[in-house]
Amino acid sequence: MASTYLITGGCGFIGSNFILRLLRQRQDANVINLDKLTYAGNQDNLRDIAGDPRYRFVQGDITDAALVGELMEGADRVVNFAAETHVDRSLMEPGAFIQTDVYGTYVLLEAARQARVERFLHMSTDEVYGDVPEGQTSRETDALNPRSPYAASKAGAEMQCRAYIETYGLPVVIARPANNVGPRQHVEKLVPLFTTNALRDEPLPVYGDGRQQRDWLFVEDNCEALDLILHEGEPGEVYNVGAGNHLYNIDVAHLILDLTEKPRSLITHVEDRAGHDRRYAVNSDKLRALGWAPRHDATAGIQKAVEWYLQNRWWWEKVRDESFQEYYDKQYGKRLAEAKPDHRE
Ligand code: NAD
Ligand code: DAU
Repeated sequence: MASTYLITGGCGFIGSNFILRLLRQRQDANVINLDKLTYAGNQDNLRDIAGDPRYRFVQGDITDAALVGELMEGADRVVNFAAETHVDRSLMEPGAFIQTDVYGTYVLLEAARQARVERFLHMSTDEVYGDVPEGQTSRETDALNPRSPYAASKAGAEMQCRAYIETYGLPVVIARPANNVGPRQHVEKLVPLFTTNALRDEPLPVYGDGRQQRDWLFVEDNCEALDLILHEGEPGEVYNVGAGNHLYNIDVAHLILDLTEKPRSLITHVEDRAGHDRRYAVNSDKLRALGWAPRHDATAGIQKAVEWYLQNRWWWEKVRDESFQEYYDKQYGKRLAEAKPDHRE
């Protein structure tokens, strides 16, 4: 029997990759994509399925209870990707994060409860654990210790999910993925920013000493995990999604410069992000027990991503528009101007 998936934030990076995969893999799937089209939402991401009769796009806000209630009535399963997602922007404008990530999640949960949906997959993040010391990994049962306004909003959303699980028995499953990399990621994030800056022969602004570590998870590996958690995960449970692909940011910068054949002199160490978590690392044994394993290591995932940006210049040149440049100047202008030549590599 056909299943209807209400997917929020489907015009963003992971959401678009997830929808494309879902429609490819599950012939019985119908998708309703509810997306506000913020600066991060991009209809180019789903232009290949615009005419697919199994796909319907609705422009709207997850905080709009009337609209969400109406769409929820036809849904069997919900996947909530919609969020403000960039840590640096959360330092500038935390209110937007609380509104969408916390309040918006509540609106979706309440509508899902009323409509008695079969399953609700909520996208959290490994950032809810906060900074993880070298040699340690976070388990799903560990305490949450969010340190940025973004991470705090995502933790707040998770607490709403927990309340709906415990109080109303809503069948919510929660995923906590690591840093995704791959096609169609907004250019504000590390890999696309450094790749497109390199292609424009502009400096790569490395925060602080660049010795922060992230676990680079290829987006298709993440989408495979999310599909598994949605369909096979235990209601009420949390699943970490990490590949164990740790690299220092400075090494990511070097790799990107090698792949784009640009000089190391483009690397510019700038003032660090406030409250910057040095390391995230999750233990994914619980997910692996469901049968998941990543198919890409860090280098392979980053290489595929860089190749995509090399081949899709039209996509990112449109995204790097005037309003992005305004953001860029605010975020990096002073920092780049103050970067000392002896800090360059
Ligand atoms: P993104 O920023 O690329 O896309 C977010 C999407 O949500 C956009 O299409 C935007 O238009 C939409 N949106 C924002 N506010 C909305 C609102 N109020 N109503 C409806 N739509 C709205 O995000 P992403 O990187 O694809 O992340 C997707 C989800 O996964 C987020 O919840 C994020 O916190 C989580 N996550 C991301 C990563 C990562 O590495 N990218 C890792 C772990 C978890
Ligand atoms: O860990 C999962 C999270 O990964 C997601 O929940 C977030 O939505 C997603 O944005 C991402 O957060 P990060 O802050 O880790 O990603 P970002 O690409 O912003 O930065 C990655 C690392 O690179 C981080 O240590 C900061 C650093 N960085 C980033 C930028 C944009 C730089 O050194 N310079 C930069 O210009």
